[in-house]
Amino acid sequence: DEAGLRAHFEKVIADDRKIEPRDWMPDAYRRTLVRQIAQHAHSEIVGMQPEANWLTRAPSLARKTILLAKVQDEAGHGLYLYAAAETLGVHRADLLDALHEGRQRYLSFINYPTLTWADTGALAWLTDGAAIVNQVPLCRSSYGPYARAMVRVCKEESFHHRQGFDSLWALTHGTPAQRQMAQEAVDRWWYPALAMFGPPHHASVHSEQSMAWRIKRFTNDELRQRFVDICVPQAELLGLTPPDADLRWNDDRGHYDFTPPDFDELTRVIKGDGPCNRQRLAHRRRAHDEGAWVREAAAAHAAKHRTPHHG
Ligand code: 3HC
Repeated sequence: DEAGLRAHFEKVIADDRKIEPRDWMPDAYRRTLVRQIAQHAHSEIVGMQPEANWLTRAPSLARKTILLAKVQDEAGHGLYLYAAAETLGVHRADLLDALHEGRQRYLSFINYPTLTWADTGALAWLTDGAAIVNQVPLCRSSYGPYARAMVRVCKEESFHHRQGFDSLWALTHGTPAQRQMAQEAVDRWWYPALAMFGPPHHASVHSEQSMAWRIKRFTNDELRQRFVDICVPQAELLGLTPPDADLRWNDDRGHYDFTPPDFDELTRVIKGDGPCNRQRLAHRRRAHDEGAWVREAAAAHAAKHRTPHHG
């Protein structure tokens, strides 16, 4: 009976074990996972755009190869995550419809432009760094397929993060103009990266329940602080300065003090009014339409191999 199933679910969560697709779960748990995993998957595939913007203009063959590998990895992450969402009984085609119709979203930072080559480095160093801080705890998320997808995603994000650092390192050890280009890119990407962690805890509608279910392990603010603490020494190594005059080590807290992102701006970008929201969504819809023949061909191929004379 339902009370027994619910008690079992609560016990699995309390024991820090995993909920698997065939296990009973409360509807609200399922809905929360679909919301978060779909948004996560959409972020991976729409997140290909700001970097793909520079593929044809990478400054060397080596940089181009690395960037191409990274952009392809993002597509792969999208695939693992759509597959994880499908274990909850939804269909990828419906999730994509929801994205294209604006009923589901992707992360805010993707709606900012990559104005120079240095932006690809800053974007990777900062936003992939932030993604790792957010996703490492998700490897211990209570839902098995999501947690397992995150393990591989985090390994690949770690490569993305390092190549971003390496790209900025080359620029900061180059000409004064290259160093300045790197600094300006960091000035642009610092706050979009801090905003990735979401609204402050008091305004985070889902955190409390998601933490009780052990989908999330930390508040948005705890992860944002962790990110700043990791990032500042790396910025010092690069010789780059985050655009925050109040950023300084606080000995009493054992953390860096910093100015939080502008959460009104985050709300505007989430609602669709960031610098590139319209462009990103239009491009995504166009890519989907132009890929229709591939989906049709793949479906026809699969149907042929399902006919009886093929066994
Ligand atoms: N961008 C867009 N929407 C955001 C957001 C952001 N930065 N932060 C919060 N929101 C939304 C939430 O989705 C929620 O809206 P909804 O109810 O319509 O879904 C609302 O704001 C309130 O926020 P909450 O804090 O209550 O929401 P959550 O508890 O879900 O926490 C989160 C938000 C921390 C973003 C969480 O959902 C999460 O950890 N998601 C998975 C992380 C993720 O998506 N990573 C993708 C990284 S992108 C990437 O790696 C690609 C790159 O490499 C190119």
